[in-house]
Amino acid sequence: MTQILYSKPIVDSELGELKDAIKTLKNAPKLKVILIGNNPSSKIYVKRKKEFCESIGAICEIIQKNDDFQPLELESLLCNINKDDEINGCLVQLPLPPQFDGFNFQELISPLKDVDGFHKDNIFSIYKKSSGDFLLPCTPLGIIKLLQHYNINVSGKNITIIGRSLIVGKPLSMMLTNLDATVTLCHSRTRDLANFTKAADIIISAVGSPNFLTCDYFKDDKSQVLIDVGISSLKQNKITGDIDFNGVKNQVASITPVPGGVGPMTILSLAKNLVKSAYIQENLKKA
Ligand code: GUN
Repeated sequence: MTQILYSKPIVDSELGELKDAIKTLKNAPKLKVILIGNNPSSKIYVKRKKEFCESIGAICEIIQKNDDFQPLELESLLCNINKDDEINGCLVQLPLPPQFDGFNFQELISPLKDVDGFHKDNIFSIYKKSSGDFLLPCTPLGIIKLLQHYNINVSGKNITIIGRSLIVGKPLSMMLTNLDATVTLCHSRTRDLANFTKAADIIISAVGSPNFLTCDYFKDDKSQVLIDVGISSLKQNKITGDIDFNGVKNQVASITPVPGGVGPMTILSLAKNLVKSAYIQENLKKA
């Protein structure tokens, strides 16, 4: 039987721990989410982030800005958030409108409040394999947690990642390398992609193209593990992943569903980063 890697049992089992952790803090952790423009998917994701944070007793405020919001205005907003001791975490929802192309907002958020884990100090901690008070990117953290929960060991495994984004593919490739996996990072210019997917023990797809990976990309010996990071909106508010779930599920060992797989793991990681950031800041105040 193919194992379906649902996130629900993991999220359910972590909820209690997060609520308890928040109770031991002086103040409930506070998150600011900046949403610029009218991207319908972004609106849904941001709403889910807020709902989850509130379900564990954290505070989340969404700051909605119009499409014509400018980089210098964002800079000033982030500067005020950095200075505000009552705010523990901050993120800017992606994608951003075109006037932000090349604008490095990631470096303008204090690394201590960078719950997305995009600041160069946090990214560099992965590069150096440092442990400690760093905040790591949410989707890679969520994928690793999901694999660990289902006892899928990555050490010595061949892992093919498809997608080289700053949010998923690049940091995840380093994080899995730190866990002793042999990682191949594929992307839109990779030739003969099926050679790389067929050669892997674990395939992680972060492309964002519905049903991009069909049965021809995988072995049929029920040995492979498939992790689908893709979230594409279909009609009637439905979402789907990169992998043709029904077409491939019987030929692999395990597969994440969409919805109900990686997406909720990303939000769980965000909440964990927020609680961690609140702890770091509280301890800094005591010191
Ligand atoms: N857009 C899609 N995924 C993410 C994410 O993890 N963080 C932010 N800020 N925006 C996103």
